[in-house]
Order: sequence, then structure tokens, then C-alpha cells
Amino acid sequence: KILILDFGSQYTQLIARRIREIGVYCEIYSCEAAAADIKNFAANGIILSGGPETVTASHTPRAPQIVFELGIPVLGICYGMQTMAEQLGGKVESSCHREFGYAQIRAHGHSQLLINIEDHTSPEGYGLLDVWMSHGDRVVELPTGFKLIASSGGAPIAGIADADRHFYGLQFHPEVTHSKQGGRILSRFVLEICGCQALWTSSNIIGESIQAVRDKVGNEEVILGLSGGVDSSVVAVLLHKAIGEQLTCVFVDTGLLRLNEGDQVMAMFAEHLGIKVIRVNAEQRYLAALAGVNDPEQKRKIIGNLFVAIFDEEAARLSDARWLAQGTIYPDVIESAGASSGKAHLIKSHHNVGGLPENMKLKLVEPLRELFKDEVRKLGLELGLPADMIFRHPFPGPGLGVRILGEVKKHYADLLRQADAIFIEELYRHELYDKVSQAFAVFLPVKSVGVMGDGRRYDYVIAIRAVETIDFMTARWAHLPYEFLDLISRRIINEVPGISRVTYDISGKPPATIEWE
Ligand code: XMP
Repeated sequence: KILILDFGSQYTQLIARRIREIGVYCEIYSCEAAAADIKNFAANGIILSGGPETVTASHTPRAPQIVFELGIPVLGICYGMQTMAEQLGGKVESSCHREFGYAQIRAHGHSQLLINIEDHTSPEGYGLLDVWMSHGDRVVELPTGFKLIASSGGAPIAGIADADRHFYGLQFHPEVTHSKQGGRILSRFVLEICGCQALWTSSNIIGESIQAVRDKVGNEEVILGLSGGVDSSVVAVLLHKAIGEQLTCVFVDTGLLRLNEGDQVMAMFAEHLGIKVIRVNAEQRYLAALAGVNDPEQKRKIIGNLFVAIFDEEAARLSDARWLAQGTIYPDVIESAGASSGKAHLIKSHHNVGGLPENMKLKLVEPLRELFKDEVRKLGLELGLPADMIFRHPFPGPGLGVRILGEVKKHYADLLRQADAIFIEELYRHELYDKVSQAFAVFLPVKSVGVMGDGRRYDYVIAIRAVETIDFMTARWAHLPYEFLDLISRRIINEVPGISRVTYDISGKPPATIEWE
């Protein structure tokens, strides 16, 4: 396995995902991790990530000395290479020649890391690589024992190697897809240089998780809050495989779900998969709690607290339950435990509702704790969950509660559900669903005038939103075809009585958020 030390690069998790894709288990620790923890992890190799700081300043992070004393291969990427070079006796300077984006590097001589990996061959017979660079500083003097293995126009020292100690440094980012041979270079490092075996596959993960769950919970009962989202669904199926009847899921139908969603969840999990699911029909309670409430944050709080209260009531009824299962995934762990150095300049804001009461006297079982989202999806598919469920767009915890602006009313929710279902159905039909990251309808409780036949209408407005994004922190509105938008507008106005106007949201994030509340 591989240990990644995080210096705050926005790409650190990407490095980890690439290594996992190669089939090798890895974890991310802060660059400030204690020497003992690094040693105890017993890695076959260490990767030092990039980072936003400069090693030319003295207060900036350095790799713990132990990294260079364990006798295992080390790969420094960008800042990771610079700090390695500086710590081992080389020299780094800030350069006015910043390099950002595409660059071509030339491989020098034979290094185990880069040999026979190239995109082109130069007329003189050197290997050339198309890579992604993003740096201001550069290494200007090699540490003793190191050789130059690559250079570019902006970085005469773009790759370094100490073949005896198996220390390597790359100025470019092999983890991003713009570095075309990046995957092969990382594979070369982890499989050949570090000698790891590619055993981290979905079927192995499933097998090991099932065993781990059985060992952990024994013959005790487990309770799980099932939402129908990817993470809790995968947990449900995995636990069902591991412990069968010892698992009880609680599915709270808030009345703020999409069209037929409650029935679909029950059909899938209870009927098709034979999992014990308690459906709590709580629409009335939610509507009562939300009556007269307009403020978005207050609505979120009410919805979240009510979920906890209902889950608590159900858990109390299941007096034999000793374990609470949760769909926590690795990025949650990294963010909340501060495993990451916290030096990344972009910080994701967390707004998950459905946090469970801390006074519940249940032990936690979190089988996805070590997995990235893409790994959870692969597991779900391997476990037999349908692809459209695994690749469904994200749906916020408060559901339609934040897509009905202002006060939530049943009538509004019903209109919104119909409009939303038409939009999503057409996205699938036109093969646009997978081209956008998230798409939904929003209910605007304002009335506008229209005509229909000879009659005048005075009805509500629906806004349609579709965005493209990688990380949901920034997003652009999807440039859906006009003919498609025209079809959506006509269908909604014709088929949803009570709606007389449809608008398309053309706001990017920032400054607008993806949801309207
Ligand atoms: P915003 O609106 O902040 O949304 O641009 C970014 C992503 O987060 C989702 N979102 C939520 N998810 N509880 C959730 O579980 C919430 O309160 C919440 N608010 C927004 C949103 O759907 C989008 O994917």
C-alpha cells in the first residue's frame, strides 16, 4: 500500500483515486503527520503531493524526515518534489517564469520511472511527454545522488531521480488526465518501483468488507437510515449480504421526495432485494413543522431535526439494535478528521442534514469509510444495484424543501414533483441526463398571467435548472438545446395544471448556488 502525504494540493484526492484505480490501496495523511504514524502505516512507498506554498519561505511545510529514512521509494510531485530537493540538499528558487497548463517535457537518459513511456519521440531520439504543469517555483540545483530525468522549457529540472534510494521527483502533475501518460507513470511507480500488487478491486473490497462487518457485529442487530441515495443504498446491500436478517433499514418518507420515490425505494429494497425496511410516512409531520416557515436555513434545521427525531423513535422501537450503520465515505473522513493538512486553498462547505443524535447508545459501523465515491459506485454495480440508481444526480438531504421557495405546502410539492418528473424523463429520453451533473425543477410561489384557449390564467412559475460541474463548488449552467427547452416548457405548461410559465436558470456558480435556497 501507498501513503500519500498531503501538502494541500487541490489534486491530492485525485492522486489517491488514481492509485486506487491502479488497484493499490492508499491513504492520505497530513504532511504534519507524526513520524510514528507514518512508520506504522507500513507503506511500500510514499507520494508527496503538490501544494500551494513555496519552499523558498521558511515557515512552509516540509516532509517529515522519517519519509527519507524508511528505505522505501518516494515520489514527490510539484511542491513535493521541491521540498524533497530542498530537504536533501538541492536548491529551489521562485521564478518569474510561471508555467501553467500544457507543457512538453523531454526525458533524459534512462530512469526506471520514465523509460519507454512517451507521447512522441524527438528527432534526436529523446522521449517527449505531454503534461500538465502548474508551478511558479523550480528546482535549480539537484541534491547529491540525484540525476536529471526530465526537463521542459519553463523548468530545466522537471524530473529528478536518485536511483539507488528510489527517490523520484516530477515537476508536472501525473495525476491529472491532461498528463496523457500520467497513469502509466504512477503505475510504474506503485507496481514496479514500490512492488505493490494490484489487489484493490471491487470484488476483493466486497469480500473483505463482508468479512469485516461479520467480525465486527457478530450476531447483533444493526439499524441503517436508508435514503435511496448511492451511499446508504450500497451500505444496505453490502450489510444485507454480510448479515442478512440482522439488518433493519429505516426509510423516512418526508413528503419532500421526488415523484414516486418512496414507492421506488420500497420496491427496490424491500420487495426486490428482500431487505427489512421500515417505511415511515412522515409527510404530515413535515408539513406541519414547516407551516408558516419561510427562511431557508430555518427550513433546513427543521427538516434535519425532524429526521433525527423520527429516526430516534424508530431506533427506540428496535430495542435489540446495537449498531448504527452509516454511509460515511473517505472524503468525509478526510475533511472532518482534518486528515488533510487543511492547507488547500479551496474548502468545501458541508451541509449534510441527517446527522444522527450523539446520545444514541449505538456503536458505529461504516463499511464505506475507506472508499471514494467512484469506488462506492463500482461496488454498487458489482453488488447488483441498477446503473440508473448508482449514477442518479445528487439530491439534497432537505429534498424539495429547498426547491419550493419560501413556505412549503403540499400543493406546491405536488406541482413541483410533476414538473420535475417531466424534465428528468425528457433528459433521459434525449440522452442528456448523463451529460449534466445535476438537473431539477424549482417551484416559485409567484403568480404570472397567461392565456390558454380563450381563458386567462393566473398561475405559478417553474424554474428549470441544469448544471455541469466536477466538484459542485463551481458550476456552469448547462447549454441545453433550445428545442429541448421548448419541449420541456410546453409539456410542463400543458400537463401540470397550476403552472403557466417556465423559466430556465442561466446563472453560474459562483455567484449563484446550484440550489435556489
Ligand atoms: P449549492 O446549492 O450549495 O449546492 O450550490 C451544492 C451541492 O450540494 C447540494 N446541497 C445540499 N445537500 N443538504 C444536502 O445534503 C443540503 O442542505 C444541501 N444544499 C445543497 C446541492 O444539491 C448540490 O449538489
